[in-house]
Amino acid sequence: MPTLLILNGPNLNMLGTREPGIYGAETLKDIEARSAARAKALGLTIDFRQSNMEGELVTWIQQAAGKAAGIILNAGAYTHTSVAIHDALRACGLPVIEVHLSNIYKREAFRHHSYVAPVATGSICGFGGQGYELAIEALATIITATKKG
Ligand code: DQA
Repeated sequence: MPTLLILNGPNLNMLGTREPGIYGAETLKDIEARSAARAKALGLTIDFRQSNMEGELVTWIQQAAGKAAGIILNAGAYTHTSVAIHDALRACGLPVIEVHLSNIYKREAFRHHSYVAPVATGSICGFGGQGYELAIEALATIITATKKG
């Protein structure tokens, strides 16, 4: 079964208690469970991780090359700052879907720029935890299309 690497950046370990008015009541464990269920229904498995450290996210992206079938990334605040994550994604050669729980374009101006977006196949934001399921569906379609050649 193809594996999707699902990466979560800083502060996403605090979901459930972190600004629930913006990010919702679901914990990251809840999001992992719904992602695993959606992936299983589509014949995929997931490797779901979170880190507060930029370098660790970069290393995981590097290690995914040639192993994972695609990457789903919610880089949290690193979305708006990290050239290192941008470069790692650009080099990894995998389809990448950018996800955000909140609609970053409805929020502060500093959240409107993403270093992930230019190296992503597509971006999903504003749908809470459902965004992860939508990203899994998008990657499933891409993987099937790639297999057909
Ligand atoms: C976020 C949006 C970012 O701007 C913020 O820094 C986060 C979470 C989201 O999922 O909505 O940590 O990526």
